Amino acid sequence: MGLCDGRVAIVTGAGRGLGRAHALALAQQGAKVVVNDLGSAASGEGADATPAEQVVAEIRAMGGEAIVDTSDAASWAGAQAMVDAAVNQLGGLDIVVNNAGILRDRMLINMTEDDWDSVVRVHMKSTFALTNRAAQVWREQAKAGRMPDARVINTTSHSGLYCNIGQANYAAAKAGIASFSIVAARELGRYGVTVNAIAPRATTRMTEGLRDWDDEALRMRDPNWVSAVVAWLASPDAREISGRVFEAWGYGITIAESWQHGATAEASLDPAELGPRLIAAHHASRKNAGIDIGQHHDP
Ligand SMILES: NC(=O)c1ccc[n+]([C@@H]2O[C@H](COP(=O)([O-])OP(=O)(O)OC[C@H]3O[C@@H](n4cnc5c(N)ncnc54)[C@H](O)[C@@H]3O)[C@@H](O)[C@H]2O)c1
Repeated sequence: MGLCDGRVAIVTGAGRGLGRAHALALAQQGAKVVVNDLGSAASGEGADATPAEQVVAEIRAMGGEAIVDTSDAASWAGAQAMVDAAVNQLGGLDIVVNNAGILRDRMLINMTEDDWDSVVRVHMKSTFALTNRAAQVWREQAKAGRMPDARVINTTSHSGLYCNIGQANYAAAKAGIASFSIVAARELGRYGVTVNAIAPRATTRMTEGLRDWDDEALRMRDPNWVSAVVAWLASPDAREISGRVFEAWGYGITIAESWQHGATAEASLDPAELGPRLIAAHHASRKNAGIDIGQHHDP
């Protein structure tokens, strides 16, 4: 018996890294999976069907059911094709895992228009497009009196939540995905859909050159720690949780609490009068949260 027996999932960017681990974990828990992957380079160029095909072969080898989809997840037609494949070939749609991503890190002063557009498009537009297309199916089901028990699990990042330098494009897209997830949770609950996001930390081709991890850090950065969270959130057992962001790795799963109101300054139409009040509010408010628990940084 698996936690996701009989459910149908779409995982974008599932040919490698975290997406591959999510697809395998969902299949292990009994889900049928649309394995989407464009097969691009880490920076977004090119296409190759092999990664998605390999993951589908792995799922079939363990007795599961899966199909390949090589759409660009950020295209509207690609998102629709994935939904159609799930419904028509696997018999329904219960779970969407928006995971596809690329990186183009640079200080913003050196960032090109294409660096910005490509990163924002692949992360943010793909998350919106597939959520929107899937939600059409769920709304129709709800209207027909068959209330879905559906899940959307999006992928944000510590970089977006805690504002890493050198990643203005990626951080903006990932912070956008965190807010999008909370808005979507509030909008789609009426159709039986929960929406949550994960901020993973794992060693994949995206992160492997960043530091020299010791053996323990490598163990804790195994994508499977993150995929266990995804597989549980995808299951009917997770029905009561929506609109949350989970920081996930082997060291523990931390809830990232959202922006909080700080001190309030009394308003004034006179900027000169306002200035000292804003300085006082600045000093009375907490610093922005840093990337590690308990750490803060100056804005
Ligand atoms: N690895 C980490 O520590 C980490 C940390 C924070 C967030 N993330 C996020 O996790 C997700 C997965 O990253 P990963 O580390 O496994 O990277 P990865 O490069 O190993 O995998 C990403 C996959 O997405 C696919 N992809 C890229 N653009 C696509 C598109 N337009 N359509 C379909 N597929 C596409 C790639 O072909 C690749 O197989 C990303 O959203 C990433 O930003 C990863």
